[in-house]
Amino acid sequence: MTATLHLGQLIQFNANPFFEGANAAKHVIEGAILVDNGMVEQVGEAQTLRAEHPDAAVQDHGTHLLLPGFIDAHAHYPQTGMIASWGKRLIDWLNSYTFPEEIRFQDPAYAKEMAERYLDILLAHGTTTVCSFCTIHPTSVDALFEAAAKRNMRVFAGKTCMDRNAPDALKDMAQTAYDDSKALLDRWHRKGRASYVITPRFSPTSTPEQLSALGQLWAEHPDCLMQTHLSEQVDEIDWVLSLFPKARDYLDTYEAHGLLGRNGLYGHAIHLTDRERSRLKEVGAGLIHCPTSNTFIGSGLFDMDGLTQAGHTVGLATDTGGGSSFSMLRSMAAAYEIGQLRGRALHPSELLWLATEGSAAALRDDSIGRLVPGAAADFIAVDLASTPAIAQRATRADDIWEALFPTIMMGDDRAIVQTWVAGSPAL
Ligand code: GUN
Ligand code: ZN
Repeated sequence: MTATLHLGQLIQFNANPFFEGANAAKHVIEGAILVDNGMVEQVGEAQTLRAEHPDAAVQDHGTHLLLPGFIDAHAHYPQTGMIASWGKRLIDWLNSYTFPEEIRFQDPAYAKEMAERYLDILLAHGTTTVCSFCTIHPTSVDALFEAAAKRNMRVFAGKTCMDRNAPDALKDMAQTAYDDSKALLDRWHRKGRASYVITPRFSPTSTPEQLSALGQLWAEHPDCLMQTHLSEQVDEIDWVLSLFPKARDYLDTYEAHGLLGRNGLYGHAIHLTDRERSRLKEVGAGLIHCPTSNTFIGSGLFDMDGLTQAGHTVGLATDTGGGSSFSMLRSMAAAYEIGQLRGRALHPSELLWLATEGSAAALRDDSIGRLVPGAAADFIAVDLASTPAIAQRATRADDIWEALFPTIMMGDDRAIVQTWVAGSPAL
């Protein structure tokens, strides 16, 4: 396979902008990425790389910005069909819209259709990796991993486990949750680009026995990620504390059952107590910010500034379909808006970092989210003038951040000119 030189503008991070500011990133106006065998071989100035690799095929993307594919660190692919459902808050929203849709995934043909549709929507939006909840049906996990394998995508996913406070058609049991999750883990974990994620939905829908069974599975497979939800809405927290009267707080319902650890991903994490913050920090767990979901379902304002400055690992996500968009650009915009409401304007470099390296760090994978030698060639070309409204603002920009910010705030899938997965054009 011939190496290919992709020419375009580049933004490269050499540090975390939450600590180093915009100096953490380097802008290369005439940059190049050398891709071979699905991997990034070299990144630098176009002129230099062209001279060093005269035999490489050249694809010139002009002024388009070449970025790592976006990484959506928390989503529910089975909620694709009911995204943007009106008028409810978390528990009513789950019962009215989410659970009826998830029941439909008992039909493997429906699961396959939705998994294929979902991944194509992601690729059109420039998202090359997702960490998704499936439904309680093992076939819903097979459907997503099979669709991902067909597209050669790096996908993290797991069977959602629930054995109470859900419709009968969506309930498993402590033992079957363990057995089914283990069988799926054995079938999919580290097969190609797949990673299995142990997935208790959230404490209200699992008995202590089920949480313990999944804690045991995680102890047997500590390299696996574990994903769940934490402290999304105030009513939810009250419900959790009534279901677990001995728990010190919401996090304790996971901690007491072996479900707190560095490889844990805790979606939302909005209304945290001091103890929860310090325990999450101590273990180095990943917190996943889902801003369009938090405004759409009316959950609250994530403390991005406080948590990042305290050194927490934070990733960014859509939380489809509680989130109101499949787009990580829209998620960056919502993160910015929530930051504003909390009195801290996140810089475009921070927003971009969250959607790429930040989410990759939360998923404990340094081979994605960065365009560096040895990384997977999962990348996108972004048009910084994708609509007349964005173009007229971007032309006034004095630097790359001012040029990028209108696309972050107003962009959508029209800004994604092309998505490559492991070096090959997707779609
Ligand atoms: N908490 C438990 N399940 C869900 C879900 O599907 N979406 C969101 N946003 N929160 C949840
Ligand atoms: Zn969620």
